[in-house]
Amino acid sequence: MQPPRHIVESLEQAGQAGVLRFWNELDDEGRTRLARQLEEIDWSVFDDMRHAATVAADEGVDPAFLSVASTPAGQRLSPDHRSAAAWRPAGEEALAIGQVGAILVAGGQASRLRCDGPKGVYPIGPISRASLFEILLGRLAAIGRRYGREVPLAIMTSSSTDAETKAYLEAHRFFGLDPDAVLFFRQADLPPLAIDSLTMLLDAPDHVAMAPDGHGGMLRALSAAGGIDWFARRGIEHVSSFQVDNPLASPLDPAFLGMHLVSNSDITTQVVEKREPDERVGVVVEAGGVCRVVEYSDLPKTLSGERLPDGRLRFHAGSIAVHCFRLAFLAEAVAGKSSLPLHLARKAVSFLDESGKRVSPTTPNAFKFERFIFDLFPLARRVTTVMIDPAEGFAPLKHPPGSVADSPEHVRRAMVTQARRLLSRMEVAVADGIDVELAPSIIDEFDLRHMPPGSRIERPCVVIGESVVSWGDGTPRSSS
Ligand code: UD1
Repeated sequence: MQPPRHIVESLEQAGQAGVLRFWNELDDEGRTRLARQLEEIDWSVFDDMRHAATVAADEGVDPAFLSVASTPAGQRLSPDHRSAAAWRPAGEEALAIGQVGAILVAGGQASRLRCDGPKGVYPIGPISRASLFEILLGRLAAIGRRYGREVPLAIMTSSSTDAETKAYLEAHRFFGLDPDAVLFFRQADLPPLAIDSLTMLLDAPDHVAMAPDGHGGMLRALSAAGGIDWFARRGIEHVSSFQVDNPLASPLDPAFLGMHLVSNSDITTQVVEKREPDERVGVVVEAGGVCRVVEYSDLPKTLSGERLPDGRLRFHAGSIAVHCFRLAFLAEAVAGKSSLPLHLARKAVSFLDESGKRVSPTTPNAFKFERFIFDLFPLARRVTTVMIDPAEGFAPLKHPPGSVADSPEHVRRAMVTQARRLLSRMEVAVADGIDVELAPSIIDEFDLRHMPPGSRIERPCVVIGESVVSWGDGTPRSSS
């Protein structure tokens, strides 16, 4: 059996015929698998990939833009800030009339965390060991109950997370969300290209190495899955997107949504104060009325460490990847001609050499290509940044246990600190050194209103509404 003609032609045109080099040695099953995979490759982006690899690789961010750029003034948001009270009603009304949906970005490979399977199943609850999905979906379900309208949720998966994510969430009944109000959509894959030859790599004789196309793949994938219409049919006018790795994420915070509505923005984005140059967060910058996010890996060292006279970093609006979009803006962006640009990173990707021997390089040998959703920012008529307190909304899980930052220990500590703070606002004391956790059903103080003021928590426990569930010595329960 010969490889299908049209596939051979596409490969030859793209200079990629080498991936067929083991074809004659494959059995029928292997040939079918490889042909099917090659069939699915979007050859139209191949020119863009090669262009990015040859030209843009060395361009980085436009230095002229950066030389005049500054941090946008933005708005400050903290629970006790006056403005929060002013914006809240507009956000609450939008939730009550069902105008707001959510997009959960959960397609990443979690390679830095070194865990198998989707990051969302990671048991992060400090005491309960509830998974990231349990916490994030449980909170959305609670918001739906509070405002009397289910929040439609689109979940982005990738080829490496799709099947497991669906099976896990179905087995757990979507942690309280109505399955009809959940839409899965899968981002595309792009093949890494060898740095020296710009050719695709085989990770098996019958399989080309692939990687998700970055969370900017969200736009095209959502639209291809009918997601924009799916939201529109439900009366949704704004969608707030957030990442699966941040259990403190508050994409539907009514004050944040209110700010988005009151400012009539196409995009409203949450930022935290970036204090140190090496913090791995993108920064929101502005020049000449154009707002954009510069990824941490793209910000030259000379600029990332530059400080203002008051000691703050010149680029201090750290993006936490919580963005609220006007749905019509997303629809326009999809309909527009230009697609989001490709960014590339040099990575070590294991592959089969000419003789079929597996090579696992320790230094980068391939370009990986990704799109970033925040490249939509320059297309927006108005972008508003909202500076939040990281203690209230940002504790990302990026690295394995024992790491110096963004490890499970750091995230759990942040969750406990947030719980203690909320309880203390309700005059509930927690004994020193004791871990407490809030169940996902608790959105804010209102859900703790029945806890007797002046009460005291002495043992590690999970607070569920007015009741406190103690887990004895804090022995974790299984998250499955
Ligand atoms: C990301 C942001 C960075 C931000 C930081 C905050 C980008 C390019 N980077 O960086 O600006 O300051 O988070 O924590 O936006 N994901 C997918 N598909 C992919 C890749 C990632 O769904 O192809 C998802 C992951 O599941 C995860 C999230 O995106 O939920 C973040 O991915 P990660 O690669 O960890 O981003 P960072 O480099 O930390």
